[in-house]
Amino acid sequence: MGKTKTLFVCSECGYESPRWLGKCPSCGAWNSFREVKVQKERLWIEHDTEEVSPTFLKDIEKTKKDRLPTKIDELDRVLGGGIVRSSYILLAGEPGIGKSTLILQIAFKFAEKGKVLYVSGEESPQQLKERAERIGKIPQNILILSAPSLEIILSVAGEEKPDFIIIDSIQTLYSEKLEQPPSSVVQIRECGAKLLRFTKKTGITTFIIGHITKVGDIAGPKILEHMVDVVLLLEGDKNTGFRILRAQKNRFGPTDEVGLFEMTANGLVPVKPHTLVELHKNSLPVGSAICPVLEGSRVFLVEIQALLTQTPFSMPIRNVSGYDIKRLQILLAIIENNLSVHLRGMDTFINITGGFKIKDTSTDLAVIGAILSSFRKKQPFSGIALVGEVGLTGEIRKVRKIEKRVEELRRFGFKGVIIPKIDVKEIKTDGIELYPVKNIKEVYEQWF
Ligand code: TYD
Ligand code: MG
Repeated sequence: MGKTKTLFVCSECGYESPRWLGKCPSCGAWNSFREVKVQKERLWIEHDTEEVSPTFLKDIEKTKKDRLPTKIDELDRVLGGGIVRSSYILLAGEPGIGKSTLILQIAFKFAEKGKVLYVSGEESPQQLKERAERIGKIPQNILILSAPSLEIILSVAGEEKPDFIIIDSIQTLYSEKLEQPPSSVVQIRECGAKLLRFTKKTGITTFIIGHITKVGDIAGPKILEHMVDVVLLLEGDKNTGFRILRAQKNRFGPTDEVGLFEMTANGLVPVKPHTLVELHKNSLPVGSAICPVLEGSRVFLVEIQALLTQTPFSMPIRNVSGYDIKRLQILLAIIENNLSVHLRGMDTFINITGGFKIKDTSTDLAVIGAILSSFRKKQPFSGIALVGEVGLTGEIRKVRKIEKRVEELRRFGFKGVIIPKIDVKEIKTDGIELYPVKNIKEVYEQWF
């Protein structure tokens, strides 16, 4: 081992500095620098002779991408048709969301095509076996290794020559050559980089699981984001069975497609998007509204719930689940300013059902509809959906792909939809009533 030197590393993004800093100049995090001792010799510089000479861009030969469909349709959709062989993939999500379950299901599919090495630092082989039995008949060809040491993994992989490696999780992985504990920035970065080289050199397809924090940052694993080819994010509300898988980064496919699953007694099963709202379509409770939300190439019908109650405090509470609190504050200000409705003394809660996280502003009108419905204790939207972005002056603005959204509503038997007036001419769909509106005043006057 070489001599050691002291470095300060940002625990959020991995930025290095020779001295301590209060704020990270790279990611802007405060008080995130930790002192680490690293060996002076660089561990990661190992050249192959053929890699050090440059090649002309025009002479580089393209290799055909070998895509392996997993036959789990919702997963293949997110990946753009399947997993590309010898790719390096990070699967991130909150603890308990179902990452190990999904990865084991993927391992079952991989095992039909080759040998799988599953490295588990989180659970014992017995626990893994129990989980596997719930998923289905255990295939041949899945090797379990419970030593999350990088050196052992690489030597076992050298001997066993697997086609797929699964690391569950990066936070338990460590290199014996480093002093730092597992899940420290230095360990994650070094192990991640070593595995990257190994993956590209051997052509083994590698999956890494990474836990993320509540706020949704891939905190430790963020350092890995730029190394990997694909970042998959598994989200959802642990209390409901629904899980949403999205590709946050994908070098080989789209990044806007989402896959929808439900956690059952036998693992995650793909579900159809409309399952989320079927219950409430025609008997919508007070404070609920339905909006067709665009995710990738698909339309999801999402139920938005609002609850308004008189606040007992001097300052009202505003709280959200699956929604952006800043957007809520803006919408409340728009209502106050444009309608003779005073929400200043009301605690306001917004919930997106099914564990969805909404960023799309085309839900503005439905959120306002849900708020007004809860405030007036009246439900005028049964069988009727709402879609439209709302501007600061209360005007209702255009949304993308309106025709597709309306078509989806019609297919699921909605009677009507309140839409931006400007979008009407784009819609050819028959069999569903259109209620065009120009501003939120019209919505309030006509429906409440
Ligand atoms: P898990 O995959 O362990 O989550 P993660 O690896 O992201 O931490 O699974 C989370 C939960 O899913 C766990 O509480 C048990 C439950 N579960 C099922 O409901 N059905 C199943 O078939 C399996 C395997 C797990
Ligand atoms: Mg797990």
